[in-house]
Amino acid sequence: MSLKTTFVATLIFGAISSTTVFAADCKVDVEDPFDLEAAGVVALYDCLKDKMVEGYTKGDNEVAAEYRNWAVTSTRPAVAGAHSNRFLQTFANDIAAEQYLKFEEESVVMPAGSVLAKESFGINKKKGIGKLGGLFIMTKLDAGGAPETADWLYSAVQPNGKPMKIKQSFCHNCHVSWEAQDMLAYPLEEVRLSN
Ligand code: HEC
Repeated sequence: MSLKTTFVATLIFGAISSTTVFAADCKVDVEDPFDLEAAGVVALYDCLKDKMVEGYTKGDNEVAAEYRNWAVTSTRPAVAGAHSNRFLQTFANDIAAEQYLKFEEESVVMPAGSVLAKESFGINKKKGIGKLGGLFIMTKLDAGGAPETADWLYSAVQPNGKPMKIKQSFCHNCHVSWEAQDMLAYPLEEVRLSN
């Protein structure tokens, strides 16, 4: 990834913090998300997970209302670096789950109608508490539906339920790094859930 992409990513994801909803009672004793042990991540997630859905569903986003019933793709949320060092956890809808959970690395073609929803949360260093991040969504359209982004439609919901203003190219220019995986980056290997 280029420095420029990183910079733009910081700008866009940074802008989200201004509307971040703070979860006052989810304490964290580390400042750097990479320092939080697995058990700590799970504890923080347990504290935040209901507030998360409460926030995402304040608007009328259909995925926000449904994704928790889909297949979870990791054993727990994890921090990969991309998406602003947030802890990430991806859910796959019925159409996507079978192929996605193979985590194949070559010639992947996701079926039209596949939807991946990735929830995110982070740490508010000053307050020492967890903070909600956005819900990031990729929807595979019918062939030819979005030729410039390999028929993927990118979208995102803020923690307050409002749609996030995003550019297709911003998301795609990074996701195109995983072209052989049909643009999917997959969770970190250590937390991947196989079916
Ligand atoms: C700087 C690179 C980068 C940018 C920009 C980016 N992503 Fe991602 N995205 C990733 C990485 C890396 C993962 C896998 C991380 C993980 O789950 O541990 C990922 C995972 C995802 C997933 C889960 C499906 C998958 O790829 O396995 C969705 C959905 C998603 N991103 C949506 C978006 C949307 C929507 C945008 C634009 C607002 C966006 N991404 C911008 C790097 C990026």
